[in-house]
Amino acid sequence: MQVTKTVEETRKQIKAWKKEGKTIGLVPTMGFLHEGHASLIKKCREQNDIVVVSDFVNPTQFGPTEDLEAYPRDFEHDSKLCESLGADLIFCPEPSEMYHDPHAFVSIDTLSETLCGKTRPIHFKGVCTVVTKLFHIVAPDRAYFGQKDAQQLAIIRKMVQDLNFDIEIVGCPIIREEDGLAKSSRNTYLSDEERKAALCLSRSVKLGQEIIHAGISAEELLGKMRAVIEAEPLAKIDYVSMVDALTMQPVEKADHNVLVAMAVYIGKTRLIDNFSYEV
Ligand code: PAJ
Repeated sequence: MQVTKTVEETRKQIKAWKKEGKTIGLVPTMGFLHEGHASLIKKCREQNDIVVVSDFVNPTQFGPTEDLEAYPRDFEHDSKLCESLGADLIFCPEPSEMYHDPHAFVSIDTLSETLCGKTRPIHFKGVCTVVTKLFHIVAPDRAYFGQKDAQQLAIIRKMVQDLNFDIEIVGCPIIREEDGLAKSSRNTYLSDEERKAALCLSRSVKLGQEIIHAGISAEELLGKMRAVIEAEPLAKIDYVSMVDALTMQPVEKADHNVLVAMAVYIGKTRLIDNFSYEV
């Protein structure tokens, strides 16, 4: 497995593989890899000749008061995991390799203003920008994203469609801990007590999945889901919403394909979870 730090050496290797007619899959990550990331890498391994993982804590997707500095990092663990999963290359640039000031940005505004975009106004602009750059550097045939970040996945799909990227976007299901908590690099921030409290997200998602049916109103569904979270003293709701699966705009009834998504603070840690419902 190769480790590259510059755009130039990455492109050189990719060009050589393309010359041999190899197909390329890309798994973009911010590192501190867990089984959620591993599931994407495994899927990528199944479907492509070459597996590229990017490992880059992207500064432009963090707001000024967010956890950029504190974001967990462990490159040794990441590279061992990637190697064991059969990855061919990890691209792990320094921020200075990726950005210089002033810098161009890519933004898919219409889908970026609801849900997480309300609390994190610059977040998706940073995500679209770095993913565009990675798409241009790696030029993959396919790229893999988790449903865990459902709004991010919807935005990337829209970006690929609107801007004519010739890349297949593969969405992968949410991987959870045994007790239901969605795996996340940010789970390491939780104290033992908070870790228990964090289960209110997956409990609320589970209840939502059980009671949702065609035509149920958002008010009824979300009221019951919110009550589960409000019963947990350490939890503070950022949002619990039902939106159209494609436009990310709020809907009043589950009468077509919807996404039911939430962000909840457990102490200082902001966690997300969701489920999709297809009519
Ligand atoms: P990161 O949070 O490291 O996640 C990388 C990919 O792993 C994302 O597509 C995310 O949805 C997926 N993932 C994370 N936890 C998961 C879980 N429990 N189950 C399934 N998939 C999971 O998302 C980012 O990084 C960044 O925004 C990035 C796209 C790399 C751009 O910087």
